[in-house]
Amino acid sequence: MKRVLLAVALSAVLVGCADREGTPSATGPALQPGDPGAGKILAERDCKGCHGLDGKGAAPGIPHLAAQSERYLHASIQAYLEGRRTHAALRDMIAGMSEADVRNVVAFYSGLPAVPVAAGASAPRFLPYEHGKALAADCARCHGADGAGTTIAPPLWGAGSYNIGAGMSRLRTAASFIRHNMPQDRPGTLTDQQAFDLAKFVNSHSRPDYALKHLDWPNGDPPPDVAYETDAGRKPR
Ligand code: HEC
Ligand code: HEC
Repeated sequence: MKRVLLAVALSAVLVGCADREGTPSATGPALQPGDPGAGKILAERDCKGCHGLDGKGAAPGIPHLAAQSERYLHASIQAYLEGRRTHAALRDMIAGMSEADVRNVVAFYSGLPAVPVAAGASAPRFLPYEHGKALAADCARCHGADGAGTTIAPPLWGAGSYNIGAGMSRLRTAASFIRHNMPQDRPGTLTDQQAFDLAKFVNSHSRPDYALKHLDWPNGDPPPDVAYETDAGRKPR
């Protein structure tokens, strides 16, 4: 529990900084509207290969962007740009995007019709992220529909959630915690697979950074589900 409290305290500090610099957050002021036409040109060039021009993830592990809220897409791209959320391919891809580019591409994708679930596919693909997302509807009872927390349960992502350096940010740690403790009023009712997919979904969201994360695991033995590089982990052995 100490660890959780520490994470929350650190989050508050980091979120405070971000707000001062005017960084958009999931709870920030209204977004400037983007230009979907310009966004489409950008998507055609840079995003189509993975997210499609219909906003449908091209492979398991690539989220659908179609019909997601502009605010959510904007906040997650911002999280990648600022390194609060890490994905090597995406970071390089969006590193050169201006704020206007982000707004345009977000306007384009959020305006697309939602991707139908298993639209006549002969062999249904199994998507852990989508599976977790569907299961998470039940978690919203306590954690809120947008994962932002309620008076009875902490936020699962976004401002105020556990930070990227917390153990809970690791897939296996979160899966194990969820498997044994959640939903809090019916612990132990989820299967291993369900807990894993829920962890995948929950931890795919943006969360506060932990500035000293690169110093973690000084002996160079980070667990395989750590979402960032550490100094020691990079050293040749
Ligand atoms: C090489 C494949 C690839 C390309 C190209 C790519 N993405 Fe992604 N994108 C991914 C993957 C994989 C994820 C999930 C990463 C994770 O788990 O954090 C993702 C996640 C996202 C998310 C978060 C969605 C969510 O539901 O959390 C957004 C927003 C996004 N991408 C936007 C874009 C935009 C805009 C472009 C083009 C400028 C783009 N991506 C290009 C692979 C790609
Ligand atoms: C009945 C209310 C309730 C439901 C339903 C519920 N939770 Fe929780 N959850 C809590 C409370 C309260 C806490 C904080 C206490 C604790 O850590 O045990 C918590 C903590 C968590 C944490 C740790 C957060 C942190 O900051 O360390 C995660 C992750 C989590 N829940 C995931 C889930 C998932 C996934 C589901 C859906 C399967 C779910 N919860 C359903 C009440 C709930």
